[in-house]
Amino acid sequence: MKAVKEELAEKLEEILEVEVKEKDIEIPGGEYGDFAYPAMKAASQKEENPRKLAEEASEKLEALDIAEQVEVAGPGYLNFHLDREKYAKIIENRLESENMGVEQREGSILVEFSSPNIAKPMNVGHLRNNALGDSLRRILSFVGYDVTAENYIGDLGTQFGKVIYGHKNIESEKDFEEEPIEYMLDIYVKFHDLAEENTEIEDQSQKWAKKIEKKDDEAIKLWKKFRSATLEYHRDEYKRLGIKFDRTTGESTVYEDARELVKQWVEEGKLERDEDGSVFYEFEEDELPGAVLLKADGSTLYITRDLYNLKKRNEEGFDYNLYVVASEQELHFKQLFQIAEDAGIKTEGSEHISYGMLNLTEGSMSTRKGIIIEQSEIFDRAIEIAEEKAEEEINRSLENAEAIGIGAVKYSNLSVSRKKDMEFNWDTALSFQGDSGPYLQYSNTRAKSILGKAEKEAELSGALTREEYRIVKKLGEFPKKVGEAAENREPAKIANYLSNLCEEFNSFYHSSQVIGEDEKTEKRRLKIVKLFSDVTDQGMQLLGIEPLEQM
Ligand code: ARG
Repeated sequence: MKAVKEELAEKLEEILEVEVKEKDIEIPGGEYGDFAYPAMKAASQKEENPRKLAEEASEKLEALDIAEQVEVAGPGYLNFHLDREKYAKIIENRLESENMGVEQREGSILVEFSSPNIAKPMNVGHLRNNALGDSLRRILSFVGYDVTAENYIGDLGTQFGKVIYGHKNIESEKDFEEEPIEYMLDIYVKFHDLAEENTEIEDQSQKWAKKIEKKDDEAIKLWKKFRSATLEYHRDEYKRLGIKFDRTTGESTVYEDARELVKQWVEEGKLERDEDGSVFYEFEEDELPGAVLLKADGSTLYITRDLYNLKKRNEEGFDYNLYVVASEQELHFKQLFQIAEDAGIKTEGSEHISYGMLNLTEGSMSTRKGIIIEQSEIFDRAIEIAEEKAEEEINRSLENAEAIGIGAVKYSNLSVSRKKDMEFNWDTALSFQGDSGPYLQYSNTRAKSILGKAEKEAELSGALTREEYRIVKKLGEFPKKVGEAAENREPAKIANYLSNLCEEFNSFYHSSQVIGEDEKTEKRRLKIVKLFSDVTDQGMQLLGIEPLEQM
């Protein structure tokens, strides 16, 4: 279904005979109408007087059904006043059509996110990634892409070496069978304490890490045991957070092919080995710092595995390949894409979806264990605070504190534009007022409770008041906002939109009684409340925040 703006742009293009894009049409607000088009640029292209051009165009536009009134203002503005009732109907139809009027795109897209290094729990550093990645998965599917969400875990390397070394040499009062993750964490922490006095154990753990790659029986057996115990633990955590993947891969699934790939490049003479047998990649003209692709002992590096991975994803035929990874790895992705290009591996369609740091006001170290705060601790605490705040702010004892606490943490991560660093503030994140997840859920359930009480049918009948028209137009922006979020890989577009929408809804609700008005007004307002409840339901789902039935 065509949006009004798009139709206006087409008509203007026809009449003015210059290119008119949707984005050339403004939404002026106030008394200037629903849409405005500045004809000044077109006039200078055509070497005509802008005011005169606008006047001529307005006469032709007046004859069309598209706007009730077209006005010329200032140096050459065309202001369009639509027929409120007609326009509200268009918006209603659009929001009630399939996919809520969101333009559907084509193509397959891989979204890689989360990808923690395992043998330990996820920590606060994974939080923003999980929130962003999962929301992008939802948004990109909603706009029509065929999405594959991949968790590419870090299941090789030093942390496994440490845990295996610790398992064999360090005593723990925890029992692996009973609490595997606590056990691994315990030996991991103890390992670090010991390593401060005795650096030799670092070398020992490195040896175990190597043994995994060399497929030593004992190393592989332990590696499998620790790997699957961690994955199981993570599975529960993802489930709790409503995060889904279509596949779980890992560095261990590609390292052998990665090694072969570099060897092949050496054989083909594309790369050279150093004297010690290692392979180092040097960029032409030193545009980037070089990178080791193969160590002297033949083992691969993080970047080597990503090179193979990229090649593999191309072969799988994805049109887009997104890596949701922190901005700290920007250099890594620059090197990766440049090496791939040089080697003839296609990088078109591949993007590093970079995001800034999440800072906790009180710091990221847990006093309890002397290690980085676990992700699950953040959610646990958020749920507790949600309960307290609900008592204080809205006088309720919550039945769904879990969904509210989790939603609050996700929202605060998503509402800040992803490239920016953010400060996590417990007080504002969990408040039921202001720019927060609980505020969205609260506004949404408020609408549902009105609908629950209604006895009349919801229907756009009668003339819209100025307040009603305003909120309907705001609702009509939803499909466009979703499109922008998908295009920019930016859930914040939806988060911020929803927050403004709720604010407007609450002031509409404040000024306009719904139930108990005359028949037409009541039906009309019920319809607006219904549209609001649908848009916020869908919008929250796209952010991974659970819409509730009541609070
Ligand atoms: N496991 C890595 C880490 O924790 C992140 C992996 C990101 N993805 C990738 N394809 N490099 O730092």
